[in-house]
Order: sequence, then structure tokens, then C-alpha cells
Amino acid sequence: MMNLPPSITFSGIACSMLVFCRTTISFSQPIDPAVAKLGMQVYMTTCHNCHKPEASFKAPGSFILSTMPPRAILAALETGKMRVQAKDLTDEQRKAVAQYLANKPLTETVIPKEAYTAFSLPNAKKAAVLHSGWGGDLEGTGFRTAKQAGISAVTVGSLKLKWAFAFPDVNQVRSKPALVGNWLIVGSQLGDVYCLNKQSGKIGWKFTAKAAIRGAISIVQQASGPQAFFADNATNVYSLDVTTGKLLWEKRVGQHAQSANTGSVVVYDNIVYVPLTSLEVVSVLLPNYPCCSSSGEVVALNVRSGDEIWRHRVIAEEAAETGKRKNGAPAYGPAGGIVWCSPTVDTKRGLLYIGTGENYTYPVTNTSDAIQALNLKTGKLIWNFQATQNDAWNMGCPGGPNCPDKPGNDFDFGMAPILVKQPNGKDMLVVGQKSAEVYGLSPDDGKLLWKTSVGLGSALGGIHWGMATDGQYAYVANADNKYALFGKTDAQHQPAPGLYALEVTTGKVVWKAASPPCGDKKGCIEANSAAPMVIPGVVFAGGLDGYIRAYSTTDGKILWDYDTAREFDTVNGVKGKGGSLDGPSPVVADGMLFVNSGYGLFGELPGNVLLAFEL
Ligand code: HEC
Repeated sequence: MMNLPPSITFSGIACSMLVFCRTTISFSQPIDPAVAKLGMQVYMTTCHNCHKPEASFKAPGSFILSTMPPRAILAALETGKMRVQAKDLTDEQRKAVAQYLANKPLTETVIPKEAYTAFSLPNAKKAAVLHSGWGGDLEGTGFRTAKQAGISAVTVGSLKLKWAFAFPDVNQVRSKPALVGNWLIVGSQLGDVYCLNKQSGKIGWKFTAKAAIRGAISIVQQASGPQAFFADNATNVYSLDVTTGKLLWEKRVGQHAQSANTGSVVVYDNIVYVPLTSLEVVSVLLPNYPCCSSSGEVVALNVRSGDEIWRHRVIAEEAAETGKRKNGAPAYGPAGGIVWCSPTVDTKRGLLYIGTGENYTYPVTNTSDAIQALNLKTGKLIWNFQATQNDAWNMGCPGGPNCPDKPGNDFDFGMAPILVKQPNGKDMLVVGQKSAEVYGLSPDDGKLLWKTSVGLGSALGGIHWGMATDGQYAYVANADNKYALFGKTDAQHQPAPGLYALEVTTGKVVWKAASPPCGDKKGCIEANSAAPMVIPGVVFAGGLDGYIRAYSTTDGKILWDYDTAREFDTVNGVKGKGGSLDGPSPVVADGMLFVNSGYGLFGELPGNVLLAFEL
């Protein structure tokens, strides 16, 4: 039985009942029958092969796509993840399939005038940058001092929701806000960058980039005042003047047709470092895709002009024909070694650390699933620590014509490596992998100092986005869950998702707090995948179940929690709903806590809000 999106005949009936119209969105507004017909044709010929209703966790089923706002579907086709699959479609076809899948007309939710406020940043050149980038500091620790945070283990229990801001027409909120003076700057799935007043959530200015922004925003004080830096998924890098929201420069850095960006940019000493991944991992689902030729990269740009200074390829050699695939078409390689994570800066050693992902195909390289150290000024590879060998995997696995023989497990490093000063004063790199292993490495040469496993690991399990550290413990989010581990569990091997505290010096597990049970909450997954953040006495960690929780750093006891998977009245008048917390950590500053909620991917709970809590 086909389980295609709701039929158009149904919608006409449903919409005569106004209440029903409001609550069951996907049945509410009929679309033009000619558009629906064209959309269905496009869907059946171009999309259905991968997006069958019963699709696996890899490609969202058509039913899941039907819950997305049509603008978000269109954005995926025009500039996002599906731009390769949709490149031969006309504008009309893309718009039709987006409307057909969502069964809603393509409308733009307009944010009312009242949601805006006058922007002012007094003494801009001296305005304090309270949070910037993925981990909040160059070392990627996710740590804030008690003074910076203004929250403690004693006061955290009285955090209350202050405002909710809804991003219009999206189903995921992945860009982590930066904070300068009284303003938050945050990107969105449709490429809009909002500058929001920290106290009121009102919009000071808005900039629109060319594609989705997934990473964190970095803010750096320059001679002329604060500037914001970020990349979009189509690999355009932007520099904005924070005092006006105006563009200073823009550069596209991806050279491969399928280059993409997920990791956050980092700015240090007049250089912007940009990590690159690629969409080939998805394109391989097409049986005739000539797999594979892209490599993960890091590109270094001049902070003033965006001009390229150096470019590092994780796989040094260019891909070449390696033989024939099962269907007789040529095969290419080596490829992969993509960089999902945000780079980490070591000012003392002059190094930039990155984590890499799997090889897409054979031959494999010794640079996949690795931590690499590069010279900050030249990009030269200084050392390479490979955690997992022979991990040749792509979304064509298992069984697709582009799946390598003897596929690996997709054990990427997705999180930014953390450079931490141990209690004995010595530096250490700590980093977690999707294999559920955590490593302590010497930053000088990448030598393995300890290794601890906290679970089973899988393509969607293990350590996905992160950890945080206060120097004594590393707080590790373990995303193992029964869906992600499908086929890997038995009586002896049960998923144990949750938050783990490991001693930084030895890797010893000192406590663990299991992800609390979901109960009968619909669509809920028990797991901790988002990066945590830590202040003295308290770790903040989000769950795929939609909860933000504050744990005691001493024993993992929950000190405060809040369920974000619900509807919100928003300060900008747009319908707001929370969902799974995944991706970046929350941001803590000056007695406030900012949380992204909603992650409509991989069967997680969709949502579209940024929430501000205050003591
Ligand atoms: C080659 C297989 C393939 C084809 C063909 C394909 N998709 Fe996808 N699509 C995927 C996979 C895999 C994902 C999930 C990728 C991920 O999240 O990493 C995806 C994700 C999406 C998403 C979610 C994007 C997001 O930002 O979360 C949308 C929307 C989508 N596809 C729509 C379409 C439409 C419409 C078509 C036809 C025009 C299409 N896809 C064709 C494999 C495919």
C-alpha cells in the first residue's frame, strides 16, 4: 500500500471546518489541482525512488516530508541538501513538488512590523562579545565561568521562560546564536540571519543569505566594530557589519559541485577557517551516480577581503577512475573524509584541529575518521590520528549499487575537538566519535593517551555533536538509541544513551545520567545527541525528547528541566513549536539561557523556536 501525502480531494472537505483547518495543517488548504498533478509527476519520477513512504532513517519518507513547510522543501531543492537531485527541474516543477508534498500552497509567512525594534549598540567598538562560535571559545570547550554565566547550581532551578521567537516556514533550528552587547545573532534554515534583542526577542535587523545556515555565528571585534562571520550550506561565506546588518564581503569557497557546509566557521588572527563537507553521501542513492570524487576540506580566508589564503584537502590526491561498478559504469575514488565539525584553534602551538568523516568508497585513505592538526598559517598537515580504518560507507549502503563492498560503520568525528587544560596544567585534546568512543590525545603529536567507550555507536549514535569540559571532567552526550542501533542490539548490547562524565586526565567514567524515559510522548526518542555546555556546578544538555536539562556536575543529578516540545506564544507573532534538541549546545550568558528547539531530520521532532530563559 502506498502511503503518499494526503490527497487533494481530502483537503477541500476538511477546510470547511475552520477549527480543523487550524489544527491539522497538512489537510487544511487545498492546492491548485494542476499544480498537484505536476507535483505528483515530479515526485514519482524524481523523488519517490529515495523517499518511499517506508523509507529508512536515511532518506526521510514522503510522510515526513509532508510535515515540512513548502518553503523549507523548496529551499532544500533550490539551495540545500536536495539541490543536486533537483538540478534538472524547472522552477515550476520544484515549486509544484514542494506544494504537492506539503499539500499546502507556497506562501511566505510575513513577520509583523511589531516584531521589529530600533537597533542600537552604544559604544559598538567596545561592546562585549559574550558568545561566539560553536564552542564559545577558540578551544571549543563549551565552558563559561560563573561570572560570564550569571547562573549557578543554586540558582539554576529558578530559570523561567522569558520569550520565544519562531523562525517562519522551517522545521529545524540548527544555527547557534552569537551574543554581542544586548543582541543575539542567529541564522536559519531559509538563510535568514536575525539580530534579536536579548531582553525582548525583537528584531533589530535581518539579513538574507543564499542558503540554509546550520553552523554557529562567529563575532569578532575589528577596528571598525564588531563583525559577524558564517557560512551557508552552499558554501558561501559571509562577513557582516553587526552595527548595520550590511554585507561586507561574500565568497563561495566550495569548488566541487557537491561541496556543502555544516560545521561552523572559526575566526582567529585575521583568518576565517571554513570546514567543508559534501552532498555526495546522499547523491550515491541514485544508482547511476558516478561515485565518488569529493574530499573534505578546510579553507582559510582573509578576514577583511574573503580572499583565499590556503586550502587543505583531507584526501590529498584527486579522485580518479578506479574500475567498474556492479552496473558496469566507472567508479571513482578515493573520496570522503568530509569535515562536519567546527575547527579548534591552538594559539600556543599554532595549530588548527579538525575531525574527519568516513571514506565514501574504495580505496580508503588513512585520513578518514581522523583528527588532524594543521599549521594555522599555511594549512600544512602536522599530524594525523586515524581512529577507525577501512570505513568506506555512504547512504547507498547497504545493498545499493554505490555501496562499497564490505561497508564500514560511518564512524565520523562530528564534534569539534576540544583543547583542554587538565588539572595538572598540561594540555590535552579530547574528542568523541560516532563509534561511542572518546579519546584523549596529545596535542603535540596526536599520540593516543587514553580511550573510553561509552556505548555501541552507529551512523546516528555514539557521540554526534559533542561534549563540553570544565577542565576536570568531559561531559559526553551519547546518542545511541534503539532506532539508530537497529540490527546491532541484543540482550548483551542494549543502548545506554545519556550524559556521561569522564575524568579528563584518565578517561575514567565518574558518573552517568541515563536519558530519562519518554513515556507515551509521541515521536519521542530517548537520547542525548546535542552538544552540552558547562558552567561551574552545572551542565546544560538537550535531549532528542525535547527537554533541556541542567545536571549537577558532581553526580549528574537533574537540577532543572523544561520540556520544549510544545507550542509557544512567540514575540514575533509567528506560530512556534519546539521539538528535539540536537546539534549545537545552548548558550549561557548574564543569567540567561538560550535554547534552539526543533530538528525535523532523521525521525526527530520538528520545531522552529529559539527560547530565552532568565533567572
Ligand atoms: C538519491 C536519493 C534522493 C533523491 C532522488 C531525492 N532525495 Fe530528498 N533526500 C534524500 C536523503 C538521503 C535525504 C536526507 C539527507 C540528510 O538529512 O542528510 C533527503 C532529504 C530531503 C529533504 C529534507 C531536507 C532538509 O533540509 O532536511 C527534502 C525536503 C527532500 N529530500 C525532498 C526531495 C524531493 C522533493 C526530491 C525530488 C525532487 C528528492 N528529495 C529527491 C535522498 C534523495
